[in-house]
Amino acid sequence: MATLKVLIFLIFINRCFASHLSEDGRLNFLELATKYGHNAIQYIVNTEDGYILKIFRIPGKRKIPILLMHGLADTSDTWVIRGNSSLAITLANDGYDVWAGNVRGNKYGRNNIYLNPDTDKEFWNFSFHEYGFYDLAAIIDTILNITKVSQINAIGHSQGNAIFYVLCSLKPEYNKKINFLIALAPIAFLQNIKPPLKDIIEISPIINKLSQILNIRELFKKDSVLIDIWQFLCPEPIIGYISCVKSVIFPIAGYDSEELESNFVPTLVGHFPNGVSEKNLYHFAQVSLRRKFAQYDYGENNIAIYNSEEPPQYNLSAVTTKIYLFAGANDKLATLEDVAILREKLPNDEYLLLPRRKMNHADFIWGRHMYEYLFPYIFKVLRNF
Ligand SMILES: *[C@@H]1O[C@H](CO)[C@@H](O)[C@H](O)[C@H]1NC(C)=O
Ligand SMILES: *[C@@H]1O[C@H](CO)[C@@H](O)[C@H](O)[C@H]1NC(C)=O
Ligand SMILES: *[C@@H]1O[C@H](CO)[C@@H](O)[C@H](O)[C@H]1NC(C)=O
Ligand SMILES: *[C@@H]1O[C@H](CO)[C@@H](O)[C@H](O)[C@H]1NC(C)=O
Repeated sequence: MATLKVLIFLIFINRCFASHLSEDGRLNFLELATKYGHNAIQYIVNTEDGYILKIFRIPGKRKIPILLMHGLADTSDTWVIRGNSSLAITLANDGYDVWAGNVRGNKYGRNNIYLNPDTDKEFWNFSFHEYGFYDLAAIIDTILNITKVSQINAIGHSQGNAIFYVLCSLKPEYNKKINFLIALAPIAFLQNIKPPLKDIIEISPIINKLSQILNIRELFKKDSVLIDIWQFLCPEPIIGYISCVKSVIFPIAGYDSEELESNFVPTLVGHFPNGVSEKNLYHFAQVSLRRKFAQYDYGENNIAIYNSEEPPQYNLSAVTTKIYLFAGANDKLATLEDVAILREKLPNDEYLLLPRRKMNHADFIWGRHMYEYLFPYIFKVLRNF
């Protein structure tokens, strides 16, 4: 115990004199794009229900835009934080017109024309349903409007592909606006998630009740105690790697220390996790517990809201856009069993199990050697179209 206290004290002293995050951990999307050789542009997207989102573009000479959509508790920055070996920079180097979207609640989407995120609970009354139904719809329309083309291509990571299934099932006219989607670490069904996350999901109804009582609607807010501790502790080379990466990220995403090395952590934790609603996490937990890819379960209020006792399922047969499902054998969130259920329901998909056997959930966005084990497959799809 005494040794531990001395150690913590030493880290504390050390931290008082050094910045915990790396330079890239502190730069935003525009600054990172500039640093890695590109002029990015910011656009504002207004959703039908009043949210104001910032999205980014690295213009390129190729005509058809590529929209990149980030995953849970993440932001557009995820596509540039690996610098020259990031997907957005690699695509831009090859002349693609790259767009990186953001959803409501993260640092680029913490704005609404009617609601104040700090004082109005209603601001945080959303889940991945609204990300798809409102945010993604508005992002796509904005891109088509600006570029004057009729279709986009898209690449989504995790939740960033689930929101396409929400949108295309509820507003089928969007199928025509999307040429194809590459779904990295495909997420829809979650009933085969492994422990320890499985155990947390099992007690999620209690956690949800508790959050209501404690009035916790927003998670991972900038400068919150949790994020301060995360950004203070995780960049520590040894203790930080053990407590954040080995004890938190790997048990959830799958273990792969080759691709998420300790030098990268001071960059990563400056960007992830980012603002999300408690309701969104609980909605995903419901999908897992109910074994159905369905809308939010309001319990006894379902009748009033949906006119049925059960929340409606998202009709995956209506998702007719071409979808390339890219799965990882070591992914503990998008398990191969759950991806198989999704494959069976999608009418127009192709499946690729990446050859890298240690491929986990995070390797799709943060892996050190993505240009070797992932990007060639992405480019193959892009070139064939
Ligand atoms: C990134 O790549 C570009 C072009 O190859 C190069 O000019 C630049 O120095 C690289 N930047 C960094 C930070 O590695
Ligand atoms: C959240 O939104 C739903 C419908 O979108 C509504 O039925 C419900 O009353 C809202 N909940 C709160 C707490 O505002
Ligand atoms: C598309 O652009 C026009 C003006 O060029 C604007 O009036 C319209 O509101 C835009 N629509 C969307 C969905 O951004
Ligand atoms: C789901 O979508 C398909 C294709 O559009 C349609 O044929 C089917 O009737 C829909 N199912 C339900 C339950 O709405």
